[in-house]
Amino acid sequence: MPAFAFSTVAQILSEPGATARLGRLLAERFPQARRPLLVTDAGFLRTGLMEAARADLARCGMADAVFAGVVADPPEHVVLAAVEAARRMDADLVIGFGGGSSMDVAKLVAVLAGSEQPLAAIYGIGNVQGGRLPLVQVPTTAGTGSEVTNIAIVTTGASTKMGVVAPQLYADLAVLDAALTLGLPPKLTAATGIDAMVHAIEATTSRHKKNPLSDALAREALGLLSRNLLPACERGGDLDARQAMLLGACLAGQAFSNAPVAAVHALAYPVGGIFHVPHGLSNSLVLPHVLEFNLPAAASSYAELAAIVAPHASGSEEARARALIAAMQQITRMTGIEASLRQVGIAETDLDRLADEAMLQTRLLGNNPREMTREHARAIYAAAL
Ligand SMILES: NC(=O)c1ccc[n+]([C@@H]2O[C@H](COP(=O)([O-])OP(=O)(O)OC[C@H]3O[C@@H](n4cnc5c(N)ncnc54)[C@H](O)[C@@H]3O)[C@@H](O)[C@H]2O)c1
Ligand SMILES: [Fe+2]
Repeated sequence: MPAFAFSTVAQILSEPGATARLGRLLAERFPQARRPLLVTDAGFLRTGLMEAARADLARCGMADAVFAGVVADPPEHVVLAAVEAARRMDADLVIGFGGGSSMDVAKLVAVLAGSEQPLAAIYGIGNVQGGRLPLVQVPTTAGTGSEVTNIAIVTTGASTKMGVVAPQLYADLAVLDAALTLGLPPKLTAATGIDAMVHAIEATTSRHKKNPLSDALAREALGLLSRNLLPACERGGDLDARQAMLLGACLAGQAFSNAPVAAVHALAYPVGGIFHVPHGLSNSLVLPHVLEFNLPAAASSYAELAAIVAPHASGSEEARARALIAAMQQITRMTGIEASLRQVGIAETDLDRLADEAMLQTRLLGNNPREMTREHARAIYAAAL
């Protein structure tokens, strides 16, 4: 067995309705905190789902402020505006309240608000210096798992994404409250849920950092996600299915934070960056084609996962691995989300640019179980068209 290290957040609370007592939860854990900044996006703010949490913060004597300027795939200027908001109010705690976009911005606010390091200096791995403000994450999609990862993704320039990876980005507390996700529309539920499934699948075949703890979490995550994704899409108000999805996404996040994702994400990023396709959907569009490409190097892992996602699969290792791919395609079909690049406005003439951009994702491609060249990437996009 290879030597490995595993890190995650200090504490996870999984409890439907927990955010209605967020003030008390924070007062117990951060007795000094008086001025929390909640980081979210305007769409989530409009749902009103943050109000119970805010009322409890006020009851506990905390004067909160809300930064609701996050947008999907947050660009640098949004991060900087959020940091400015934290400095202006002299925030002493940061709460990411939303999907991956809001939680990623919250991480960067927590490290930059009291620091002189510019954002540009912290891209890459291990470049954050010093500490951070106390950080609490409340996911409202089941999804990215950002509440338990040490990564924040920022859109730089017109279409490229860069990551900040640092131990300081692990939160002090993640609160999984499915009551917040009951109104998540079916297509968003599907796309974000498939993103979480991709995290689990890619963690299991991560080339350099695959480890037994990530594997165990990924398997548990895939079980929860594959059993509950369709119920959560069909009956949005099913609290049990929603809590299971949140937990599945969280476990998958812990898995891939220690055994990083690979070519599915590398090929998804240009689709999202250039064509503004949501993160989960871009992953879903390239997923079966990347898995097919990886088969020669990853059949045994895929066959093991098929036992969870497609329990009736039988036959050779390759047959069972193919059953995993077919099961993932079946899930996509049943949710009704787009299944081809054409359906999201991508044409044959875009494939070269996509392949060029995907090749820039060297951090992710290095984790792929099979070496991928530009020609491979282009062929995968062509298959996904
Ligand atoms: N840090 C990580 O580990 C990590 C991992 C994967 C992806 N990401 C990043 O996360 C981002 C994607 O995050 P996401 O998929 O969670 O989406 P998101 O945060 O971009 O949100 C998408 C939309 O969902 C809406 N929404 C969120 N919660 C809702 C709710 N409960 N009810 C109704 N609407 C709701 C938001 O208003 C928004 O319009 C991308 O920037 C991606 O790069 C980060
Ligand atoms: Fe992802």
